[in-house]
Amino acid sequence: MEPRIRAVRPEDERALYEICLRTGASGEDATAMYRDPDLLGEIYVGPYVRLAPSLAFVGEDEDGVAGYVLGVPDTRAFEKACEREWWPAVRARHPLGVYPARSPEDHLIRLIHDPPETSEDVVERYPAHLHIDLLPRLQGRGYGRRLLESLFDGLLGFGVSAIHLGVGLANERAIGFYERMGFTVVHRYAESQIMARTF
Ligand SMILES: CC(C)(COP(=O)(O)OP(=O)(O)OC[C@H]1O[C@@H](n2cnc3c(N)ncnc32)[C@H](O)[C@@H]1OP(=O)(O)O)[C@@H](O)C(=O)NCCC(=O)NCCS
Repeated sequence: MEPRIRAVRPEDERALYEICLRTGASGEDATAMYRDPDLLGEIYVGPYVRLAPSLAFVGEDEDGVAGYVLGVPDTRAFEKACEREWWPAVRARHPLGVYPARSPEDHLIRLIHDPPETSEDVVERYPAHLHIDLLPRLQGRGYGRRLLESLFDGLLGFGVSAIHLGVGLANERAIGFYERMGFTVVHRYAESQIMARTF
């Protein structure tokens, strides 16, 4: 069957955590990097599926869910909702101090306990944000574009037409894709950048 795009369902959550891990090393498989396979998904998948399911879309083929886009219309409101409804349970599941300081796991657990706030100049101009990840079997076939377009349609339904995302500078392929999709750099950090566009 040709892959199809559909709205996320609660039972997709495990598959999305898995995709997040399998694409979590600058677009490549991060399985060998983390002793706890759930950590990336706890940050980059779980809160979106739980708190903003109407803006989560998946690409699915005969072997199952193979890609997703996750978005929120209002990043600041989402940060506050996470603080109330997502982080407390996740912090209890992943306490500080379990992994060696500065290990990859410790870095993610610190993000869980002290999540950075997106800078005000970015959220003022581009209130929505997104994450997109496709397994290799779905990549390079137009599904990244289609997933983004599904998200943009959904966001327009919320009256939102400006969005940003974060991408590691090492992920050159993703940066090329985002540029092709009309995103430009609005903020640069040492190892990552924020890209944004209106639609
Ligand atoms: C990056 C990613 C989302 C792109 O999705 P994709 O399905 O491979 O991309 P598509 O096939 O939909 O490409 C859409 C358009 O972008 C172009 N494009 C894709 N990658 C490109 C690149 N590196 N440079 C320039 N153009 C690129 C395509 O040619 C296509 O152009 P067209 O529609 O105008 O003909 C996907 O490859 C992926 O999930 N990679 C691994 C995980 C990852 O890195 N996620 C991003 C984390 S920030």
